[in-house]
Amino acid sequence: MIKKCLFPAAGYGTRFLPATKAMPKEMLPVVNKPLIQYGVEEALEAGLNQIAIVTGRGKRALEDHFDISYELEHQIRNTDKERYLSGIRRLIDSCSFSYTRQIEMRGLGHAILSGRPLIGDEPFAVVLADDLCLNTEGDGVLAQMVRLYNQFRCSIVAIEEVPPEETSKYGIIAGEAIRDDIYRVSSMVEKPRPEDAPSNLAIIGRYILTPDIFELIEQTEPGKGGEIQITDALMKQAQQGCVLAYRFKGRRFDCGSAEGYIAATNFCFEHFYKAGKAF
Ligand code: UTP
Repeated sequence: MIKKCLFPAAGYGTRFLPATKAMPKEMLPVVNKPLIQYGVEEALEAGLNQIAIVTGRGKRALEDHFDISYELEHQIRNTDKERYLSGIRRLIDSCSFSYTRQIEMRGLGHAILSGRPLIGDEPFAVVLADDLCLNTEGDGVLAQMVRLYNQFRCSIVAIEEVPPEETSKYGIIAGEAIRDDIYRVSSMVEKPRPEDAPSNLAIIGRYILTPDIFELIEQTEPGKGGEIQITDALMKQAQQGCVLAYRFKGRRFDCGSAEGYIAATNFCFEHFYKAGKAF
């Protein structure tokens, strides 16, 4: 059973400066909720209630968000404003939260390795909260992936098709389709130019990883951009055993970019806020 979900949240968020100068990118609100809260909701819906967050300098607001604010809560007690906090209270009551700091921002692979003391020797999920994934038609993306893990018992990356000219923003996979929505990964390249990309199937910010990934990250040299890339470690895992890529059901918004952030805001306003389902 997977119980733990790791949130690497130590990045600088340079694409969203100046908003992210003194505030974590993961605290950017989509309508009225910060990105990280949507991510934790998705994890809990998938049955993962042990939340592990990799933070960095200037990220204290993340810890404060998943804590009680006595003064504020005293102030609004027995008023109709209490309902605004019902969602976050449910998360605080249902999940445990643990934190570690990534001291140097050496890439996503390194951030995941920094989370090792919080995860231990068990399979776990990874959520990049700036990729907001929503499925209004059924199970969330992590719940879909946990189900697949229970069947296949290996690492799984979530993928989606991207326009060929956008491959240089993502890790791109190649593989053999074993079902119309599942590929067995044979190759993986970090941010290839369109002419070098093995496909247009891009890895997005949802992973299920088996714990042998930690050793593989330790053996991984810095790659593209001088960062320790999770795709390089996953490639080794795919060569030694099996990594699956899953084309999920639902929508993904890249909230690390202005376009994705605005699209997510409009979507959530329509589907949740106006429908009275926003808290
Ligand atoms: P991004 O590639 O989006 O980088 O990281 P970033 O720093 O957050 O944002 P930009 O590109 O500068 O605007 C993907 C995820 O990995 C985490 C980030 O917090 C984000 O959730 N990350 C990245 C770390 O935790 N540590 C790192 O060293 C790098």
